[in-house]
Amino acid sequence: MTGKKLFMDFAITATSHTLAEYQARGGYEALAKVLREMKPEEVTKEVSASGLLGHGGAAFPAGRKWGVIKLNDGQPHYLCMNADEGEPGTFKDRWLMEHTPHLVLESMLIGSYALQGRHSFIYIRGEFDLSYRRLADALEEAYADGLFGENILGSGFSCDLVIYRGAGSYVCGEASAMLTSLEGKKGYPRNRPPRLTVQGLYKRPTVVNNVETLANVPYIVKHGAAAFRAVGTAKSPGTQLISISGHINKPGVYEVEYGYPFAKFLFDDCGGILHGQQLKCVIPGGISTKVLTAEDIAPLVLDHASLVDAGSQLGSQGMIVVAEGTCMVRLLQVMLRFYHHESCGQCTPCREGMGWLEKISTRVVAGGGVPEDIARLYQISRANDGTTICGLGDAAGYATVGILDKYRHEFDFYIEHKRSMFDGRLEVAAA
Ligand SMILES: Cc1cc2nc3c(=O)[nH]c(=O)nc-3n(C[C@H](O)[C@H](O)[C@H](O)COP(=O)(O)O)c2cc1C
Ligand code: SF4
Repeated sequence: MTGKKLFMDFAITATSHTLAEYQARGGYEALAKVLREMKPEEVTKEVSASGLLGHGGAAFPAGRKWGVIKLNDGQPHYLCMNADEGEPGTFKDRWLMEHTPHLVLESMLIGSYALQGRHSFIYIRGEFDLSYRRLADALEEAYADGLFGENILGSGFSCDLVIYRGAGSYVCGEASAMLTSLEGKKGYPRNRPPRLTVQGLYKRPTVVNNVETLANVPYIVKHGAAAFRAVGTAKSPGTQLISISGHINKPGVYEVEYGYPFAKFLFDDCGGILHGQQLKCVIPGGISTKVLTAEDIAPLVLDHASLVDAGSQLGSQGMIVVAEGTCMVRLLQVMLRFYHHESCGQCTPCREGMGWLEKISTRVVAGGGVPEDIARLYQISRANDGTTICGLGDAAGYATVGILDKYRHEFDFYIEHKRSMFDGRLEVAAA
């Protein structure tokens, strides 16, 4: 057991994505309650009281973001769901869209009502084909049932939804880049201020929320903020969907109550490390979070405070498990190749820095590294800290420093011997 569950305790069947089955399980009852009994600002108040935190990486309180939108300012307001999910190791939003697309749509309707959004958007990662088809089919069903369009359920509230497919860029998951891409332009992140809640899509007040963040909203309005707060910890209420992959026996998506013991999750719920190997480390929240060693993990629980105290973050809740015998020099090189490829090139420290980080790490892996390379990797990583428009540059730096700090001896060995300290041992394990 991974603690209490809020929205993932139903069985997945061949038809669990359909409107009929979602309604049979109480689906769209939260929407009906909202439209019947609550004013838009009361919905936002309930979400604020629940303490719901964002699940897109930064754990920003959802109610606080919604509360900034001035409902009677005479402007159109937009709600945009961030379904880009490009962070390596992260695939929990995909699970929601494939298995419960109507929950995703119901959450968009309730959020749009709270923000008085007449037109709303889901920006979905281009590569997510099944998720897109499930959402598009569900939207068609919902329109046919009067759940979208004019005068929804006779309430006077009207809302249309557009599902927009991205074109495979990681940086378009960054909220401002996403909106720029949605406007039909090249997906460059924007400088802040102005914040997106002041000038977002088409320069109008806009809320961007992650899929999972919004998916919690129907539960909160249906059962109340107190019921939501009864699960999880005081500072991290509710649950989180963790996608786990790498050297683990039972990879997949798990709904885990905040505060659940980290080691118990890995070794009991996820079946421990592949082939009975020893755990080396875990990258806990997508590759942009700092690595945690097996010793770091032992005392931790899965909530924001616990991971921050240990020098890392829950990030996008995409865990990558790494077994003993894995070369961290090569692992870092693969990560840096990704960041270099995905940098949009607007900011000098990121554009140039990502290129050099990849070049240096590739040189080390090829056996041509020199001792000064380690200082260079540190220097370039730190040059990105706080100097770039979006978080990509920072994140690559944090990830690099995190690995260098904990596995420096592997880099020293590689540079001195021109090979990984694990070369030869992997073949033995495979035999
Ligand atoms: C490079 C980069 C990529 C991002 N990719 C995603 C993503 O795929 N999905 C997501 O929800 N948030 C992503 N984010 C975070 C978003 O900018 C934003 O904080 C989030 O969508 C807000 O939703 P939340 O408040 O519900 O967490 C990314 C951020 C950066 C810097
Ligand atoms: S930090 Fe990198 S990805 Fe982000 S805006 Fe600057 S150049 Fe583009």
